[in-house]
Amino acid sequence: MTKYIIRGGKPLFGEVEISGAKNAAVAIIPAALLVDGVCRIENIPQISDVTLCLKILEQLGANIRTINRHAVEIDCTHIHSTRTNYDLSRKIRASYYLIGSLLGRFGEAEVAMPGGCNFGGVRPIDQHVKGFTTLGAKVMVEGGFIHAFSENRRLKGANIYLDVVSVGATMNIMMAAVMAEGNTVIENAAKEPHIVDLANFLNSMGANIRGAGTDTIKIRGVDHLTGGTYAIIPDQIEAGTYMAAVAAAGGQVLVKNIIPKHMDCITAKLVEMGVSVEEHEDTLLVRRTDPLQKTNIKTLPYPGFPTDMQPQITTVLSLAQGTSLVTEGVWNSRYRYVDELKRMGASIQVDDKTAVVEGVDHLTGAPIQAYDLRAGAAMVIAALAARGESEITGVQYIERGYEDIVEKLRSIGADIRAVEEPDETLESGVG
Ligand code: EPZ
Repeated sequence: MTKYIIRGGKPLFGEVEISGAKNAAVAIIPAALLVDGVCRIENIPQISDVTLCLKILEQLGANIRTINRHAVEIDCTHIHSTRTNYDLSRKIRASYYLIGSLLGRFGEAEVAMPGGCNFGGVRPIDQHVKGFTTLGAKVMVEGGFIHAFSENRRLKGANIYLDVVSVGATMNIMMAAVMAEGNTVIENAAKEPHIVDLANFLNSMGANIRGAGTDTIKIRGVDHLTGGTYAIIPDQIEAGTYMAAVAAAGGQVLVKNIIPKHMDCITAKLVEMGVSVEEHEDTLLVRRTDPLQKTNIKTLPYPGFPTDMQPQITTVLSLAQGTSLVTEGVWNSRYRYVDELKRMGASIQVDDKTAVVEGVDHLTGAPIQAYDLRAGAAMVIAALAARGESEITGVQYIERGYEDIVEKLRSIGADIRAVEEPDETLESGVG
């Protein structure tokens, strides 16, 4: 069991390199199951969720060759099973992508029900199931597994209208449909950068997908996909997290290897709060010297403000002058971390989906707990800005999605260290 000790109150200065996008990687790795041949995937983040995805594929018979820290070759030519390892796949939410990819390639998938939710509320997959059944599959739950299969093995293209804008359902249906017979249209599709990344990956392997990044995605089924090389996009949320850290702690940091367009929704809000953000080709120079100003934020599907930045930005707002309103527009609830911020002196009242954040002059260090990945990132930001020392437990959640976070923060002047503690059991989280 690792915990982070952070001595806060020090502004951050220097440069930080952003890794490949977690939520693209955890879809693109399962998508390699659709490919007959070797896929070389580059710019893979070194995070525990990726390690898990690769292990699951290996158990299904994939041949995985590590090229270097950020590149692997995956060969799914000789997959021998369509049933995933129960213990591995139930640990990670993104294992639901194995349903779409196995079903799309082999006409059958048995995948452990994705783990429960750890930021409150329900995380249904009814829209994924609606997509698979519309494509002609039967889907049932048996012994803790979701069993999806198509009697004719090959699915049949269809028109699918999503009742809610769902990232997971959009990507899962895309995977299932890529080798279906005929054409598929996904309406009311999600538009996140990782949707476009998955489509680009599949197209580079021979798929025919158009419209990814708009709300209508058109897929013309192809007979098979062949190998190739693909590099994952930079992680919008990791970049936003470092930007938020500079906003909260002060200082000036060059955030490198990003796609500025993907950052617009986050940049706009930080600028409203008085943070200076200068855009260059694939970098952003983030500077905060003056006091932070209040603003209101509502999370929405892309290109709206991302829900995966909500805990981090609320933490920054807890230090802004005035009262800000934060509204969660994607999930039913995502405010479990607020009680931890209150331990540090934040003044936040949560009423259903809205948090009323009354800015305070400063936070003070405290023992705090990371309850999930982004809540954990928020704890790190709070601790970096706070006066005194904080001790963060539950950091295994943070390490699911942030590559080398301790080293990256140290390189920009943060006083953070990871220490090993005797074991303590925590429920497993989901990404
Ligand atoms: C993805 O989850 C991300 N996870 C989440 O990031 C992110 O918060 C979320 O998209 C929204 O951007 C991964 O990519 C692995 P959704 P996903 O389906 O796909 C409702 C992180 O911190 N819904 O877009 O599971 C759902 O309840 C993680 O990196 C249905 O009603 O989210 C929610 O209100 C946490 N039925 C909304 O749609 C469904 O079948 C959006 O969920 C599916 C979803």
